[in-house]
Amino acid sequence: MSRTVMLHTGASMPTIGLGTWQAQDEVELERALEAALDAGYRFIDTAYLYGNEAIVGRAVRRWLDEGKGTREELFISTKLPMMGMRPADVPEFLGASLTNLKLDYVDLYLIHVPFGMLRDGMERIEEIVAGEVGSGALDMDTDHVAIWKAIANVLADEWKLQLSLLTQALEAEVEAGRTRHIGVSNFNERQLARVLDNCTIPPANQQIELHLYLQQPALVAFCLEHGVTVTAYSPLGSPGSTWLNTAGGLQLPDLLGLPEVREIADKYSKKPAQVLLRHIIQKGLLAVPKSTNPDRLRQNIDVYDFELSEEEMRRLDALDRGEDGRIIDMLLIEGVRDHPEYPWVRPV
Ligand code: A2P
Repeated sequence: MSRTVMLHTGASMPTIGLGTWQAQDEVELERALEAALDAGYRFIDTAYLYGNEAIVGRAVRRWLDEGKGTREELFISTKLPMMGMRPADVPEFLGASLTNLKLDYVDLYLIHVPFGMLRDGMERIEEIVAGEVGSGALDMDTDHVAIWKAIANVLADEWKLQLSLLTQALEAEVEAGRTRHIGVSNFNERQLARVLDNCTIPPANQQIELHLYLQQPALVAFCLEHGVTVTAYSPLGSPGSTWLNTAGGLQLPDLLGLPEVREIADKYSKKPAQVLLRHIIQKGLLAVPKSTNPDRLRQNIDVYDFELSEEEMRRLDALDRGEDGRIIDMLLIEGVRDHPEYPWVRPV
């Protein structure tokens, strides 16, 4: 099986990338990045909002300076934050990401989420994304609603215009050579269709929550039919997540412990995580499992030497729980439902 999928430009994108969400510890992440590059990872996924682009940039720079490989071998993706959702903001935020990453260009620039927020909320949002909610220091219910009401500023009527202008602003970045591809993240079918209908340069990729309990077959089919590759985030179900565990009382599923997964893993002498990832990439999708542990990150890319049978694929497909399986609905909070694009990540 190929280790890459082809994008509409003819460029290759590695099917397994290193996810870096909730990897803020500098020393740990830098060590993990070094281990990942040594283990053969060539795709690293970050985001302005993760607050760790500079660490990614440092590790990549060192790898390049040590002559271990070339920039062209790497596939670096980052994302436009929700505070940068006005066309005029795009050059500034991409510029800031490139400065952080110490790169001239990224390989993929995704719109992080399909809604915008005023910049005033930036500091607060960075705290949230950095995982400081659920620590007990914040009152989730009241704070989120208050944040939302204070800073959300995307108006229903404005949205269509905004999105097509935003699309043009992103296209200009491709023209300027600052990103090779553009794409979206957390978009539903309707939102993606609107981009497709209004674009000159089509989205190369959509990154969505996708794992055994939330397989999103309809959205995936829609993306693939339109030549948009699909990357799975939280492909392992985000075990160990500090943020999701507590936010809104969400229960994290134990996908790695499922008997079906363990049984298949045993059969191939593989680990449960490898079965979960193989199930995703064997469908022609990509995945960005996050790990800062060198052993586990090595496991996660070692998924090309076995193949699940059709029956095993079907068995795993059958574990899909649809929307009930969604783990990350970060704004599943009273008040957010007033947002004109809500529910942005659900099929409409
Ligand atoms: P760690 O970074 O300590 O390895 P997801 O990508 O679905 O969000 O999952 C990330 C979580 O899964 C992290 O807590 C990570 O912990 C853990 N993890 C990553 N790879 C593996 C693996 N191969 N086996 C078990 N847990 C893993």
